[in-house]
Amino acid sequence: MIFLMAETDGSRTRVGQSSVRSKAASRIADPLKAWLLQEPQKYRGIRSREWTEDKPMPEMSRHDAWQAGDSYDLYMGRWSRRIAPRFLDWLDASGDLDWLEVGCGTGALSAAILAQCAPKSLIAIDQSEGFLTKARANVPDARAEFRVGDAQALPVEEASRDVIVSALVLNFVPDRQRALAEMKRAARGGAQIGFYVWDYPGGGMEFMRTFWTVATSLDPRARDLTEDRRFPFCTQEGLTNLAKVAGLASVDSTSIEVETVFTGFDDFWHPFTLGTGPAPGYCMSLDLEARERLRAKLHDSLPREEDGSIRLKARAWAIRAEVA
Ligand SMILES: C[S@@+](CC[C@H](N)C(=O)[O-])C[C@H]1O[C@@H](n2cnc3c(N)ncnc32)[C@H](O)[C@@H]1O
Repeated sequence: MIFLMAETDGSRTRVGQSSVRSKAASRIADPLKAWLLQEPQKYRGIRSREWTEDKPMPEMSRHDAWQAGDSYDLYMGRWSRRIAPRFLDWLDASGDLDWLEVGCGTGALSAAILAQCAPKSLIAIDQSEGFLTKARANVPDARAEFRVGDAQALPVEEASRDVIVSALVLNFVPDRQRALAEMKRAARGGAQIGFYVWDYPGGGMEFMRTFWTVATSLDPRARDLTEDRRFPFCTQEGLTNLAKVAGLASVDSTSIEVETVFTGFDDFWHPFTLGTGPAPGYCMSLDLEARERLRAKLHDSLPREEDGSIRLKARAWAIRAEVA
């Protein structure tokens, strides 16, 4: 099997696949053309590349595609920005503390920390250079420092931070216990640790659940790519257990819910065509006909308000705990 990839500055998104090399060459043309017409500036310098069965992208990350900050903001950042202040209200940390954020993405939670928690300092870490560039632009604040790094080997001194938080990240980290051990290593005694992830198994992230329900009705093989199947631990019990196994004390949990309101179907659909995140990555891996079938079925399936808007819910499970 040959996977056809579009690649811009290190970010890769699969745009097609073929078992025959010559067919592959022709199939790449249309999706790439569609992309280039859609966002000519972003994809200037785009080039195609083939992944073969000897050298595939890892299955888990193949559709995760975390690089393009603008696309992320349109797909997820606009909703994670609404959850962040609510989580911080619940965390209720004091002012003048040294914060660490793990997996800051484009800075949704970072901005909220600086706006409402009066931190002394904030170190925000992400593995994606593309997202960090966007975060630095989104959050210009002298108290904040954005560093590239892995949640499983944090580039932070031991026992140096008072509050450590992470938003919508832990499910993407291969070794979650190692990530929590790293947070504990970076924490001063008595530090607070807090994190949240979407309620994927409970269907709490309704726009994603709707996307995947329709996608899997057309392509049953997509079932294994859905977040509820990939991340079954994202429940109140699963997350509480994760924190307790990590040896955190005073573990507490809550759900946080916000509305995701799309002005109309295009506002709902467009972010899925930008390729950033698991569902958009999958969407852009389809050939044009399959993608059009998916678009049309979603268009007919989604509930509409009288004004054409689409109102859905997004629920996260949050954990707060202490380092003994
Ligand atoms: C869904 S986004 C969440 C971003 C941001 N926290 C927010 O609330 O919008 C997941 C983020 O986790 C980052 N990430 C995934 N695995 C990581 C790892 N092992 N180490 C550091 N960052 C990671 C990705 O680059 C991406 O920015």
